[in-house]
Amino acid sequence: MSYPIPEIFAPKGCIIDTHAHYESEQYDGLRDQIFASFDDLGVSAVINCGCNIESSKKNIELAKKYDCCYAAVGFHPEDITDKSLNFGALENLLKCEKVLAVGEIGLDYYWNKENREKQIEAFIFQIELAKKYDLPIIVHDRDAHCDTLEILKKYKPKGVVHCFSGSLEMAREIVKLGMYIGVGGVVTFKNARKLVEVVEDIPMEKILLETDGPYLAPEPFRGKLNNSFLISLVAQKISEIKKIPINEIYRITKENAISLFKF
Ligand code: NI
Repeated sequence: MSYPIPEIFAPKGCIIDTHAHYESEQYDGLRDQIFASFDDLGVSAVINCGCNIESSKKNIELAKKYDCCYAAVGFHPEDITDKSLNFGALENLLKCEKVLAVGEIGLDYYWNKENREKQIEAFIFQIELAKKYDLPIIVHDRDAHCDTLEILKKYKPKGVVHCFSGSLEMAREIVKLGMYIGVGGVVTFKNARKLVEVVEDIPMEKILLETDGPYLAPEPFRGKLNNSFLISLVAQKISEIKKIPINEIYRITKENAISLFKF
C-alpha cells in the first residue's frame, strides 16, 4: 500500500485537515510515515472524526500518540441502527483530552431511508450534547438537505457542514447561521459545478479545508488513498475559483479552523 504525494505542497504549518479518518484500516502500516511527513509537507494538524464508539476511541488513541492528531467523537448516521446507541459512553469520550468536536453526526438518506426518525433523534441529541460542552459539531448531510437545514436552523449549533453537497441557497443559509462549509477533493472533480458555484459565492472566512480521507482524493488522484498532503490541490482549486493567491487561502482557512475548533 502507498499514498500519493502531490507535486505542489503547502509551506510549513499551513494546512489543518479538519476532517479525516486516519483510524481507518486503510492507513494501517502507513500512519507513522504519513504523520512524520506532515511537518515537511505543510500540514500542522488533523481532526479524525468518529462514526461510533469504537472509531471514536481509536481516534482518541491516535490523538494521544501523535501530536498532530486531534479527535471528534460521535455517531455517524450510517451507524445508527436498531441496536441502542450508548450516549453515556459518548459523553464520557467527549471529556477526553484533545477532543475538539462532536462528529461526525447528521443525516444520510442515501444509504438508509428506513430509519429517518431515528437518525433525526440521534442528530438532535448529539447537537444538544455538543451545546452542553460548548463544542462545535461536524455535520454529515447526504441527500437530506431539507431536514438537515431545518434542524440546524432550529438548534443553532456552531460547527461545519462537512463535504458540502447542497445548493448555493443552502450554503448561504448555513453561512447566515454562522456555520462553516467544509470543502475537500470533490471541488476538483469534473462534475463539481454546484460546489464550484458555492465556493465562488460564499466568503472565504466561512470555508474549511478537509480530506475525508481515506475517501475522496482530489484530481489527479481520484480513487487513490486520500491524505492530508493532497489538500494543497484543493487549496489550489479554491485559489483559482476565488482568484485569491493560494497563500491567502492557506492563511484564512487555518484561521477559520482555529477559531472554530479552538486548537
Ligand atoms: Ni467523514
